[in-house]
Order: sequence, then structure tokens, then C-alpha cells
Amino acid sequence: MNVAILPGDGIGPEIIAQALRVLKKLDLRIQFQETPVGGAAYAASGDPLPEKTLALARQADAVLFGAVGDPKYDTLPRAKRPEQAILGLRKGLKLFANLRPAVVHPELAAASTLKSEVVAGLDILIVRELTGDIYFGQPRGVREVDGVKEGFDTMRYSAPEIRRIARVGFEAARKRSKKLCSVDKANVLETSQLWREVVSQEAKAFPDIELTHMYVDNCAMQLVRNPKQFDVIVTGNMFGDILSDEASMLTGSIGMLPSAALDEKGKGLYEPIHGTAPDIAGKGIANPLATILSAAMMLRYSLKDEKNARRIEAAVTKVLRDGLRTADIHTAGTRKVGTQEMGDAVVDAL
Ligand code: IPM
Ligand code: MG
Repeated sequence: MNVAILPGDGIGPEIIAQALRVLKKLDLRIQFQETPVGGAAYAASGDPLPEKTLALARQADAVLFGAVGDPKYDTLPRAKRPEQAILGLRKGLKLFANLRPAVVHPELAAASTLKSEVVAGLDILIVRELTGDIYFGQPRGVREVDGVKEGFDTMRYSAPEIRRIARVGFEAARKRSKKLCSVDKANVLETSQLWREVVSQEAKAFPDIELTHMYVDNCAMQLVRNPKQFDVIVTGNMFGDILSDEASMLTGSIGMLPSAALDEKGKGLYEPIHGTAPDIAGKGIANPLATILSAAMMLRYSLKDEKNARRIEAAVTKVLRDGLRTADIHTAGTRKVGTQEMGDAVVDAL
């Protein structure tokens, strides 16, 4: 198996290094090929997603990705900004299905800003569409109309795009508690009206799944009011972006959440959902667990190695049970460790 390693910017290289140590400890027959992406690639070659990086990701069986973005590039034209690299990879590799699980490890219930009883035992899955919506809709731009500048974007989904992500949602629900909640803004948006119509049609092929619909504003509220009412949520690119950040805080820290972005054949890009955290980059204190858990998802979905995926997840659970915590999840009575030491502990637990 070939795995492309794209560490990226900020804390990306630090957390990817720990995930690599974990994977290497398992003695799998994987070849790793590393290459810069995002701001790091821009600095090296003037392009956040050089052709060479895209080609490497294309020929790999899976991609392990850190994070991209750097405040020092905020003033670059949009096409050169580090974020374009992840958007270009998702689009270029047709990674339309984004799985973002939010699981509360019992040991971390107290690290959430919500009351422990509200989040203890939480296990939800957000299925986010990743290659359409207002992120990619055309036309878009900044123009001048009658001497007044205006910015505009296009929210757009075709029926087949909605159907294919709905299916991922239904199938995920089938493997879990058989409940699917589709989130939209059908009371206001045309795109969402079509979304709701197509998801409802698709439900006929999944009579064993209980489908509900919810407006996104209500969902944002329900996620903090009573998150355990949800099991699988399926939604569009932008709503999924926002709701998955919100869901991450239910688990105590955004530093804990892995994700998978899959194409129709199961090839995937695996990344923590947090960003580059420029404020703590290079300090050796970032939480590597979201990336280590992303590596576990990679074994599960792209390399079909469920056994080793579970071994990694069990090792993470053990380390948390042993009381080790990076700064973002540290609470009284636990031991605060840095990035490297957290990686050491997971490797030892394996
Ligand atoms: C995410 C990120 C990205 C997104 C950014 C970095 C472009 O926030 O993966 O959720 O908006 O999708
Ligand atoms: Mg986001």
C-alpha cells in the first residue's frame, strides 16, 4: 500500500510525525511518501497545491493529511492561499463523502464545556458533503454594480450529488442505530428544498431507517441542548463545516476529532478536523490524538484493516484512561504531557 503523507502547516508536521510513529509501530506493509502542501508548498514553489503533490495524492491508496493555513498568507489572492490545497485535493480526488465522528471518551466527559451528563456516552456521526455547495458553486466573485462593490457566491447542488451523499448517510445509519437526520434550510433556500425532496425520495430504498429532517439553526441549538438525540446527521458542505466544529466541542476538544473524506471507491484522505493552530505551532504542546485516530480511520476505510484500526483506538483509550492529557484536554488530577510524550504513550500502549 502507498500512503501519501501531507503534513502541511502550523501544528500539522508535529501531529503527523506522531501518527507516523504509531503506524510504523504496527509493522504494516505500507510505503510512505511525504510532500509539502498548503503554505509550506507555497513557500517552496509558489503554489499551495503543486501538480506534484496532487499527482502523489492521486496515485496513493490513501492520503494522511495534517492541516493547512497560515495567517502570514491571509493577504494572498484566494487561489494562492493555503486553504486552496485542501479544497483542491477534495475536488481533484472526488472525495465527496466526509465522515466526521464525534465521540465522547468517558474519561473526557469533564473536559467538555457542557455538563458531563449532557455529553457522557455521546457517539454521533456527521456525514458532510464535501465537493459541492457554496464552496464550489459558480458564479462567484467580487464585482462592482452601479459603483458599489459586492461579493457573491452560489449555493448549488444537483439531484445526483444529493442522492449520493444521502446514500452514504443511510448506509452509515444502517450500521449504527438506524436513525438519520438530514439537516438543511428548506424554509428559506431553493437548494435545500431540492435537498429535502431528494433525501426523502432516497429514503424509500431504506425502509429500515428512520429519517427525520431538521433546519440547520435548530440543529445548532439541539446539538448543545440535547446532543444524544442524534445518531447520524447528513448535511451539505457549509452546514457540515459549521456543525462539525460545534459537535467537536461536545467531546471536550477539537483536538480529538478525526475525519475521513472518501470517494466512490473507498479511497480516502484522512485528517484531523482541527486546523493549524498557529498560536501553539512549534511549541510541542499540540494534541496528536485526532491525527492518530485519523490514521486508524485510514486503516479501516482505505486499507480494510479493521483489526489494526481497533488496536490504535484501544491504545488511545488506554492512554486517556492512564490519565495522560495534552493541554487542550487537561483537567485537575490528570497528567499534562506534550505532543511527543502523548505519541510515546500511544506507541507504548500498542
Ligand atoms: C474543514 C476546514 C476547511 C473547510 C478549510 C480549511 C477550507 O474548516 O476541513 O472543516 O472549510 O472545509
Ligand atoms: Mg471547518
